[in-house]
Amino acid sequence: MPATILIGTQWGDEGKGKVTDWLANDMDMVVRYQGGHNAGHTVIAEGHKLKLHLLPSGILRPHVVSVIASGLVIDPQALIMELDLLKDIGIGEPNLVVSTNAHLIMPYHRALDQASEVKLGKSKIGTTGLGIGPAYTDKASRVGLRMQDLMDMKIFREKLEVALNFKNQVLTKIYDVDPLDIDQIMDEYLLHAERLKNLIGDTSRVINEALDGGKNVLFEGAQGMMLDLDHGTYPFVTSSSPIAGGACVGAGVSPMRINRIIGIVKAYTTRVGAGPFPTEQENDTGETMRSVGGEYGTTTGRPRRCGWFDGVIAKYAARINGLTGIALTKLDVLSGFETIKICVGYEHEGKLYEQMPCHQSIFHKCTPVYEEVEGWNTDISGADSYDKLPKAAQDYIVRLEEMTGVPIEMISVGPSRMQTILR
Ligand code: GDP
Ligand code: IMO
Ligand code: MG
Repeated sequence: MPATILIGTQWGDEGKGKVTDWLANDMDMVVRYQGGHNAGHTVIAEGHKLKLHLLPSGILRPHVVSVIASGLVIDPQALIMELDLLKDIGIGEPNLVVSTNAHLIMPYHRALDQASEVKLGKSKIGTTGLGIGPAYTDKASRVGLRMQDLMDMKIFREKLEVALNFKNQVLTKIYDVDPLDIDQIMDEYLLHAERLKNLIGDTSRVINEALDGGKNVLFEGAQGMMLDLDHGTYPFVTSSSPIAGGACVGAGVSPMRINRIIGIVKAYTTRVGAGPFPTEQENDTGETMRSVGGEYGTTTGRPRRCGWFDGVIAKYAARINGLTGIALTKLDVLSGFETIKICVGYEHEGKLYEQMPCHQSIFHKCTPVYEEVEGWNTDISGADSYDKLPKAAQDYIVRLEEMTGVPIEMISVGPSRMQTILR
C-alpha cells in the first residue's frame, strides 16, 4: 500500500500520533500536509514521550524520511524548538525536508490571533492562540511570507515591511495593542533562516519520486475532520483542510496515487475549544472519561470536553474522506462503565436525523438519540489480540463497524506501541 492517508475523524486528539508511529514501522516516509503547531501528537516509544507539533510522528523510526509539505503554516521558532528537543534527548537531527512553499507564521499572526479572541469575547472560537488562522488568512489574501523567503533576506525584509505596516495599524487602531518592531523581527528571522535553510526543499518532488520508486508514504493529518474549514462546524474550526482530500492539496500529490485512507476514531468523543458537541457529557460520565483518558490538550493543556461516541459524525467522516479502514483508539478508557451509549441519530423538532444535518443550527440544538449497550468491567489494556477482548468490547467494535460501514482494522488499548491490536 504505497500511499496511505491517516486522518482524525472527530475534533482532533484521536490518537493520530500513536497510530502514525505504529504504522511508520512499515513506511519509508511520513508527511504532514496541513495545519501548524496547533497540532499536538503524542508518541510514546523507545523510552520517550514526545509531544510533536510540527514534526511528523514517524520521527522515532530512524529509517523514515520526514516531510513538512506545502500546506502547512510554520512558526520557525516552534520548529527549531522541536528539532532542538530531539537533539537534547539523543535522537539527533532527523532526515527532514520542509517545503519552500509552506507559509511562515509571523509574530503579528500570533498577536492578531490572541487579540481577535479577546475582542470576540463570549463568541470566541477558543483557538490555540498560535497564529494559525491569521497566517492562513494572509496566505489566501496573497500577502503571506513563505519558507523560501527565508533564503533571500533582502526580499524577506521588503515583503515584511509591506505586511507589517498594515498589521501594525490593525493591531494598534482596531485591537488597541502594541505595534511590532521590524528590526526585532528581522533579527529573529535571520537566526531562524540560518538554522533552517538547509532543510528547505521541493517536497512535492521528494514525495512523488518516493512513490515512483515504490516507497511507502504515510500522509499524517492534523486536527480532525469536524475542524475542517469546509466540512467542519464552521466557524468553530481550524483554518486548514484536515480531511483526506487536503492531503493531495497540501502535499502536491494526485488523488490517483492514494491507495488507502485510515480514519482514526476515538471510542468516545472529545473536543477542545468552543462550538457545538451534541454528545457532550458535562457530568460525572464526562469527568470519568477526562480523568481516565487523560483528556487535557497536548498543545495548550486545556481540559478537553468529553462525551459519548457519535455515530452520525463517524458516518459523515466515512463519507467525506472515503475511509477504507478505521483505527479505533482509547477503547481501554471505556472499561468500567456499566453501560455505554452510542449516538445513532439526532432529534430536532420531532424529526430524526441519521445523517449529519446540513444546517448547523440543527446540529447546535439537536438532542442525541442513544442506543445503550453493555459495558465491560475488565482492564483490557494488556489485551494483545481481538480474541482476548471481552465479548461486550467485541460487540461494541462490531456495532461501530456496522454503523460506519468501514472495517475496524486496528484497535488501540493504551498509549504505547505494544498496546495495539491488529484485527
Ligand atoms: P493526536 O492529536 O490525535 O495525535 O492525539 P493526542 O496525542 O493529542 O491525544 C491522544 C492521547 O491519548 C495521548 O496522550 C496519547 O498518548 C493517548 N493515547 C493514544 N492512544 C491511546 C489508547 O489507545 N489508550 C489510551 N489510554 N491512551 C491513548
Ligand atoms: P491535533 O492535531 C484538537 C482546535 C482549537 C480550536 C480550533 C481553532 O492534536 O488533533 P486554531 O488554533 O487551529 O485556529 O484553533 O481548533 N484545534 C485542535 N483541537 N486537536 C488539535 O490538533 C487541534 N488543533 C486545533 O482548540 O477549537
Ligand atoms: Mg492532539
